[in-house]
Amino acid sequence: MKKTILNVEHLNKVFKSGDKTMVILHEVSFAIEEGSACAIVGPSGSGKTTLIAICAGLERPTQGAVLLNGTAMHSATEEELSRVRNHFVGFVFQSFQLLPSLTALENVMVPAEIRGQNHARSRAQDLLRQVGLGARTHHYPIQLSGGEQQRVAIARAFMNRPRILFADEPTGNLDTETAREIVRLIFQLNAETGTTLILVTHDRELTQQANRVISLKGGRVLSDTRKEIGIPHVANA
Ligand SMILES: Nc1ncnc2c1ncn2[C@@H]1O[C@H](COP(=O)(O)OP(=O)(O)OP(=O)(O)O)[C@@H](O)[C@H]1O
Ligand SMILES: [Mg+2]
Repeated sequence: MKKTILNVEHLNKVFKSGDKTMVILHEVSFAIEEGSACAIVGPSGSGKTTLIAICAGLERPTQGAVLLNGTAMHSATEEELSRVRNHFVGFVFQSFQLLPSLTALENVMVPAEIRGQNHARSRAQDLLRQVGLGARTHHYPIQLSGGEQQRVAIARAFMNRPRILFADEPTGNLDTETAREIVRLIFQLNAETGTTLILVTHDRELTQQANRVISLKGGRVLSDTRKEIGIPHVANA
């Protein structure tokens, strides 16, 4: 039995606007084994981004528990959260969130330098080479295509050798060829480093390569399929 790296228990997220309350996540529970690749799928607005933001410690749940590598993220202090994020977590945002005033190399390198990581420049250069951007390190985001910016964001997410990578539609808005390249890259990094992957995606190819597919609808887990077993486990039906 492999170690569980992420444990989500009875997660609820409610947003209040005025006197209206919106239930965004409802009693979401699952456990993810270390080294596995999990796709999170579901229609727009079903709560995918909110879910992984809470799992990665970028947002707080209203109720429920998130244990990431043993840390109780739901009750951790801001200091603990940033320590866990800096040491264990990589995050690729739906919008790439590159800093426009920094070059590709600086975008990958600077957050690591701020964390006090050694050899940030040479590691950033290596990663940019791995994502096929060795010749683009001194370009600014505005000088890069969407797919290239996405690859810079992926290189940045791998800087701290994360134990777990959360990626929000890493192949969204990319052409088939570039999307395939990004998928290959993410799974290669997963195979080489044992990084657990949590991928929000609409990409069928990406979903096929995952060994776990969690499907959300209206903030609930609609289905949770483990491919090793091959039998869908239907939750909250
Ligand atoms: N800060 C917020 N305040 C109020 N409502 C929010 C907030 N963030 C998200 N929501 C709402 O929560 C719901 C789920 O949003 P979320 O971004 O998690 O969906 P998603 O599944 O990632 O959708 P998409 O596929 O379009 O990215 C949406 O209805 C959204 O409007
Ligand atoms: Mg989203």
